Amino acid sequence: MKGIILHGGHGTRLKPLTHTGPKQLLPIGNKAMSQYALEDLKTAGITEIGIIIGDVFPEKVKEYYGDGSKFGVKLSYIYQDAPKGIAHAVKLCKKFIGNEKFIVYLGDNVLRKNLIEYTKKFKISESDAMVLLCEVEEPERFGIAELDKGNSNKIKKILEKPKNHPSNLAVIGIYFLTPKIFDIIDNLKPSWRNEFEITDALDMLIKNGDSVEYDIITGWWKDTGTPEDIIHANKLILDSIGTQDQFLINVDSKIKDQIIIGKNTSISPESIIIGPVIIGDNCIIDSTKIGPYASIGDNCIIKKCKIESSIVMSDCKINTEIEIQDSIIANGSEIESMKVQKKCQFLIGERTHIKI
Ligand code: DAU
Repeated sequence: MKGIILHGGHGTRLKPLTHTGPKQLLPIGNKAMSQYALEDLKTAGITEIGIIIGDVFPEKVKEYYGDGSKFGVKLSYIYQDAPKGIAHAVKLCKKFIGNEKFIVYLGDNVLRKNLIEYTKKFKISESDAMVLLCEVEEPERFGIAELDKGNSNKIKKILEKPKNHPSNLAVIGIYFLTPKIFDIIDNLKPSWRNEFEITDALDMLIKNGDSVEYDIITGWWKDTGTPEDIIHANKLILDSIGTQDQFLINVDSKIKDQIIIGKNTSISPESIIIGPVIIGDNCIIDSTKIGPYASIGDNCIIKKCKIESSIVMSDCKINTEIEIQDSIIANGSEIESMKVQKKCQFLIGERTHIKI
């Protein structure tokens, strides 16, 4: 089986963070969010992976992942000229996939549980597709599955972001497919949002009488469409610190009570770190309270502030008596302030300099 990771799209809801790169490279727990997809596929034994890159800084994706050898996989890049929909992106992979079954993983989806069981199930299954469902609170944001009342093993319908939702079972962004989907996509029409929807393709499979299996996932799943989603995903990921070795950022990391600290990072005795927290390499943390739920990238200099429930990316400088909460501060940004500030919230793009 081969894998596809979708790394294109607009990233509009994440501006200004996506002014300088694709959203799927934004870090969660100090790792690009799409790396979780890549590692999930690899753990499930899928090492031949195609990455769909779009028109938002595709070269940064290539720079991050290279040929995949650093991550133990073999990567091919497939270019999508414009975000014309998930089904459009899948269709571009026809040649890469050949005659095999395959898994499509949206690069902005993060799943708690790995794919081993689902992959095994789909490998031996006779079905034409398999989807994973998860109960959600805002069904209007997702593809939604309606189960057959007479036979709850079957899906009756799949609808994209319905206003009147027949259930609250979202179709998550990991699709188990066979090459049969390519012919179906050929017959798709663009949706109300002018995209070729994978949900429409799956619904068409069902209408044709082809078999679409499902499983309801256990554990959490997160679609990181908004800054709030990213901060929440960061919390969920940091909660797993110490239980999964994927959080060892390098061999020299020190791990203590859900706190991971990178190489050459110094923390002054006046500082307080309350886990779960991850701090990258070469940082200086001075008279600062960090945590809970903070991810700090490499080469940051942070003095005198409090940072909670936030992501501070690499090369940032923060020198101020300020309480930073629920914030995302992108690479190379600086914050300084003359005054003591209580509870500030920031969403700032790369290399921004804020003086208060
Ligand atoms: O997260 C699960 C949801 O993902 C599903 O429940 C929906 O049925 C499905 O349509 C999708 O909805 P979104 O509105 O969240 O999709 P979004 O436009 O955010 O795109 C999902 C990912 O695919 C994202 O990483 C960007 C990438 N993408 C998207 C499009 C439209 C591409 O690579 N190319 C594209 O043309």
